[in-house]
Amino acid sequence: MTTLANVAFHKPGRKPAGTLIVLAGENLQLGPQSSALGIEALIGRAAQAASFKGKPMLTLDLYAPAGIDLDRLLVLGCGKVGELKELDWLRLGGAAMGAAGRGKSLSVLLERPDGEELSAEAAADFALGAMLRSYAFDKYKKDKPEDGSGNGPGDLTVVFAEPKEAESAFAERRAVAEGVALARDIVNEPPNVLGPVEFAARAEALTGLGVEVEILTEADMRKAGMGALLGVAQGSARPPRLVVMRWNGTGARREKAKAANKSGKNRGGTGADKATGAADRPVAFVGKGVVFDTGGISIKPSAGMEDMKGDLAGAAAVTGLMHVLAARKAKVNAVGIIGLVENMPDGAAQRPGDIVTAMSGKTIEIINTDAEGRLVLADAVHYTEERFKPKIIVDLATLTGAIVVSLGHLIAGLFATDDDLAAGLVAAGEATGERVWRMPLGPDYDKLIDSKFADVKNTGGRNAGAITGAQFIKRFVKDTPWAHLDIAGAALDSPQTEINRSWSSGFGVRLLDRLVRDRYED
Ligand code: BES
Ligand code: MN
Ligand code: ZN
Repeated sequence: MTTLANVAFHKPGRKPAGTLIVLAGENLQLGPQSSALGIEALIGRAAQAASFKGKPMLTLDLYAPAGIDLDRLLVLGCGKVGELKELDWLRLGGAAMGAAGRGKSLSVLLERPDGEELSAEAAADFALGAMLRSYAFDKYKKDKPEDGSGNGPGDLTVVFAEPKEAESAFAERRAVAEGVALARDIVNEPPNVLGPVEFAARAEALTGLGVEVEILTEADMRKAGMGALLGVAQGSARPPRLVVMRWNGTGARREKAKAANKSGKNRGGTGADKATGAADRPVAFVGKGVVFDTGGISIKPSAGMEDMKGDLAGAAAVTGLMHVLAARKAKVNAVGIIGLVENMPDGAAQRPGDIVTAMSGKTIEIINTDAEGRLVLADAVHYTEERFKPKIIVDLATLTGAIVVSLGHLIAGLFATDDDLAAGLVAAGEATGERVWRMPLGPDYDKLIDSKFADVKNTGGRNAGAITGAQFIKRFVKDTPWAHLDIAGAALDSPQTEINRSWSSGFGVRLLDRLVRDRYED
């Protein structure tokens, strides 16, 4: 697993050394900690020479500054400090780490340049931003760059007035950073290295945090009747897996689960879980995990096909989320279910024209073997609803190119049968910066996926491609409030931001952690 910057909090007063970051507001205003160093004139002169005005996220870099025992003094602009929002502190932390560079030992004097008190929450957000930015997927780069950035992420000392408070606010965010890094790693990993079995092993490692993990094999899925998922997998030499991750973070349920686990009742079955009372019903997250999507017999053009190693980003986000919930001991019962397959053309592959029977009993006519994600999810959401009777189901999938055309890479498409759940996701998106935009569903779109020969067909033509994809999944959900996030744009080839410079942003982990925290925790 990728390592992230090591973050520690300390009280002011220690003599700074090495690389020091200070924050400057409008008119190069400095907070008390920074002023005490007597660096105002130094910064003033350098700022004038560099036309630096303290604008947010911009930096002024002074190497071997005169009159102070530092290798480097990095001034980070904050602009009008009073106008900074919650998310800005996260971004500032990222910008600081980005400007300072990986592989270094850094200190930051964290304070508001206007002298007002900075909350421990904001300080912890700053540190989270720095940690997220410190992520790099460079394990396959054997030629290390000369600037030292290949030597690992380095560490960050945050000098803050109330280190204890900041450290405890940061404890949960450390879990978040780890979960995001796990999701990014899974998406960035090359497809020859990470097949369904290898992905399942990464999920299984969450047992170390107290997550219960079950892995269903091809035979298990055959027995359960998952013809839709298995149809996608049949052209691959690598067998599929379905992974069930359970985090039981509410007391009573925990004991029960332990007992059931010991007696082996829970393995693959559906019986033991039905007894669960309403209050214990979990929230459920389902992910599309196509480890590589060639399109199958309806093969994709070769240009850009390498990006289809990221077609497991939904499943990666669910896995990252389960890591976060367990690592921060969230007071919630949550299940994460991921369908892991590879979509390959082969003598044994599924054909256009085939009709498969999903676990729900519905028959599906395959029109295009490249519309495989919805087939995986059809069985995964049905299994989830039947077995766990969850309060809500949220699925995440790199489902359609159409959503990338609609929304680009900044925002994910949201489809929901429940207004309250949709509102929760929109709010969580605004709070985390992992934004979602609601798109329509409706019976008129359903007509586009009615089949001549079966109950439903797997594509509805070019128009409204993201909507018909969502509408297809909806046919496999009965009455549980359900939302579908099409993250084909948001999770891959991600915009380069203050908190992410990786190809994969890990989109969805922070969004859903926030949803759980705001809506479903005791
Ligand atoms: N995995 C793709 C969608 C995708 C496209 C993800 C670009 C990330 C970036 C999905 O399986 C797919 O191929 N969808 C088809 C559906 C069509 C055949 C109805 C698409 O979007 O073209
Ligand atoms: Mn496809
Ligand atoms: Zn796909």
